Amino acid sequence: MILVKLGGSVLTDKARLRTPRRTTIVRLGKELAGASESLVVVHGAGSYGHILARRHRLHERFLGKDQLLAGARVQRDVKALDMLVLDALLKAGLAPVSLPPSALLTMDDGRVADFASKPFLDYVVMGLTPVTFGDVVRDRTRGLAICSGDVLMLELARAFHPTRAIFVADVDGLYTADPKRVRTARRLESVAAEDLDAIDFTPASTADVTGSIEGKVRRMIEIAAHAGETLIVNGNVKNRLRDAVRGRPVAGTHVVGRR
Ligand code: IPE
Repeated sequence: MILVKLGGSVLTDKARLRTPRRTTIVRLGKELAGASESLVVVHGAGSYGHILARRHRLHERFLGKDQLLAGARVQRDVKALDMLVLDALLKAGLAPVSLPPSALLTMDDGRVADFASKPFLDYVVMGLTPVTFGDVVRDRTRGLAICSGDVLMLELARAFHPTRAIFVADVDGLYTADPKRVRTARRLESVAAEDLDAIDFTPASTADVTGSIEGKVRRMIEIAAHAGETLIVNGNVKNRLRDAVRGRPVAGTHVVGRR
């Protein structure tokens, strides 16, 4: 099995509310269809999630009834993006099935308390391609919480030990500093826990509701312990994802887990 996370910054314009990058979504769908094994697809929320989640502070403690309306709105919006991903996969000849975290996952104070991985396996065995996404979920302490696609990648990697876990980003991989801010930033061929201290994680803009780049990389290192190979590739460069899902060598960053 291959686990793929399509980052929200590739699928959407993250600065403009609910703005999809339709051509990219369709192209990535086609590239996924060439996978050499069964696939489970996770996607981020991009501007279908982060903007309203931040405005209504859905990633913080429970602040009152208004948050329920905002939560319902974001759940609806991430499903709208999910439909675009499903359409792209269908167009590419895959048989996708959408599995929403709002129904399958429960958190407790922002941590996963319960996750139903069985439906993913059942559908994979049938030959379908499960698709899940960053979502607003139930939280036993807070009422509602945000579950990122990266958290889902970790849960799925733990449950299924995939051959490959691939993170599709809008940059070529992990850099020594933010390449959009620092011109001398260098791409790392591989990254392990001991390399993190040497990386400048100063963000270019406000952090996502689902955390900092450093937090995301730490989670990828955790995921790498459960996957044969874990890599970050650029989804804006044609055929990088295609090559990655075929197991071909590709420009990117390898994430090395703790042994
Ligand atoms: C965000 O999920 C979920 C919501 C804000 C509802 P992700 O953190 O996986 O999304 P991206 O990839 O950063 O857009």
